[in-house]
Order: sequence, then C-alpha cells, then structure tokens
Amino acid sequence: MKNRITKLLSIKYPIIQAGMIWCSDWNLASAVSNAGGLGIIGSGSMYPDVLKENIINCKNATNQPFAVNIPLLYPNVEEHIKSIIDLKVPIVFTSAGNPNTWTKELKSKNIKVIHVVSSVKFALKAQSSGVDAVVAEGFEAGGHNGREETTSLCLIPDIAKEINIPLIAAGGIVDGRSMLAAMILGADAVQMGTRFVASKESSAHKNFKNIVLKAKDGDTKLTLKEITPVRMMKNKFYQEISDFYENNPTKEQLLKKLGRARAKLGMFEGDLDEGELEIGQASSQINEYFKCCDIVNQIMDEFISLKSKISFDDKFNF
Ligand SMILES: Cc1cc2nc3c(=O)[nH]c(=O)nc-3n(C[C@H](O)[C@H](O)[C@H](O)COP(=O)(O)O)c2cc1C
Repeated sequence: MKNRITKLLSIKYPIIQAGMIWCSDWNLASAVSNAGGLGIIGSGSMYPDVLKENIINCKNATNQPFAVNIPLLYPNVEEHIKSIIDLKVPIVFTSAGNPNTWTKELKSKNIKVIHVVSSVKFALKAQSSGVDAVVAEGFEAGGHNGREETTSLCLIPDIAKEINIPLIAAGGIVDGRSMLAAMILGADAVQMGTRFVASKESSAHKNFKNIVLKAKDGDTKLTLKEITPVRMMKNKFYQEISDFYENNPTKEQLLKKLGRARAKLGMFEGDLDEGELEIGQASSQINEYFKCCDIVNQIMDEFISLKSKISFDDKFNF
C-alpha cells in the first residue's frame, strides 16, 4: 500500500501504534514496526536513561523505522530530544504542547515530525510550524485528550479539508472496519492506542490488559478537564474523583487528589482500584489479546476485504 503516510514514514501499512505512557516500550514498538506498521516508544513515563536504553533496544530488535512520542509538557523533554538526535531516531511524534518549540530543531537533523492535535485550529498551527503530518485525535481516544470533545467522526473531515499535509486519525479505531471508515473520512493512516494496550507485547500490567478485554460501552469517561482532560476506566479511583467534583474543587485540590504516579500504579503495577487506567471507548470492542503481528495482519485483512466488498453489501443496495 503506497500512500502519503507509508511513503513519508517508509512503512508497509498505514497503521501506527500510539506512543503510550507505561504501555509502549521498545518491545511493543519493535513488534509493530516488524509487523509492517510504525511502532512508537512512549517517552512520557521514562527517565532519560530509560529512554536511551529503549531506543538502543528498539534498534537492535528491528531494522524497520520506529518513532518516539514526546508529550511536550512533561519534564525531561530537552534530554529526550538530545537522545533522539544523538541516537538517530528517524521519526518523532510530539503531543501536549506547542509544536513551534522543537519542530525546526528536529527537522534540521532530518527527523520527521508529526504533531497530535484535537481541533482544526491546532492542526493549522502545527502545519504552519512545519510538521510533516498531524494526528487528529478524537474524543473517543484513551489517555489525555483535547478540551473540545470533538469526536473522530467530525474531527477527521473537519481537519482533512483544512490542511494539505498528511493526516493520521486516532480515537476509536481498533480494526480494519474503523480504519476504512477513518480513511473514507479523509485520513491517510490510523493511530491506535487502546488496541495495542491489549497486545501480548505491551508493557501494561496483565490486570490492566484483562480489564480492557472485559470493558463494555460506557465503561470509560473523560474527566479532570481542569488539569488535563483524560479518558480512563470507571474504577474506584474514577468514582472518588467523580464524588470529589460534587464539592466544586479547585484545580489545586484536584491535583492533590490525583496525587503522584497514579497512572503507573494502575497501568504498570496493576492496581485496578487506586490506579488511573487510561483507555479509550473502543475498549468495548476488544475481547482477546494477540501478538502485534497478528493484530496488524487481522486489521489489514479486514480492511482489504471490506474495501473490495463494500459496494456489494445489502445496505448499499437501494
Ligand atoms: C494507556 C494510554 C496511554 C497514552 N499515553 C499517551 C502519551 O504518553 N502520549 C500521547 O501523545 N498520547 C498518549 N495516549 C493517546 C494515544 O497516543 C492515542 O492517540 C489514543 O490512544 C488513540 O485513541 P484510541 O485509544 O481510541 O486508540 C495514550 C493512550 C492510552 C490508551
């Protein structure tokens, strides 16, 4: 499949595994890149030494391109960028911050830069900062999210008609069917987080993976908008936050309630009650976890088969 994204990133399939704190280390990223997609190391939960080790291990595990995700508001960004440049990582996905800050520097080192956005305004800003492509992340997505609450169904076409650089859709995409839908709406590729949390190679704790497989519709919710909006599983910790809101807490009180290392506690250490379990709405569609190569192959098989059959479907026979 040769389109703007597969050419830009030198990958076989337009499937990108999202960079995710506590879930996407080198093991996951290299498995997805070896399967023909693009794997991303999530640096947001890594100290500088840990990121360096992850990049080196990823290079040893695949000869295919891979990327690093840098949430720009996190600490250690400067050291992370230095490691990426020194160790010649070919692609960086930036998020949660201003794309003007690092794009020029990275591009001057021949690194491809892709920025995550949640609105047309931010997509245009990213385009004018010189990024190579944007990820449009809709309301359905797991993890930190935009304040606008625009769903992928509306966000993808809204952004596609305004920008001229390639567009990667994220939020609610888990299989070949949703990938085809996103591409019909105007995306050149898809980024999936939730689908790859529930994979054999993800570094998520097995308790977290198992609860993702059991999720039903309505089991996740976007909350903590006053700090940074985040979609998580409705567990005991979510319920406590929700009850806390009844007293109109200040931002400082919310920060205190959140405390430190909640995401690590939930997603990496497997505390399903006290931890923060970031996951997307489409978790309701995942019932089994597989190896990444099987996930990528299943998605591509379904995508290709539906693409060729769609006009023969009874639904379209009117
Ligand atoms: C567990 C988890 C952690 C995430 N961590 C990050 C992160 O560190 N940086 C980032 O840019 N996005 C992060 N995200 C968002 C993903 O990159 C991706 O855009 C999103 O998962 C796509 O929606 P989906 O979950 O419906 O596939 C995270 C998502 C999940 C589920």
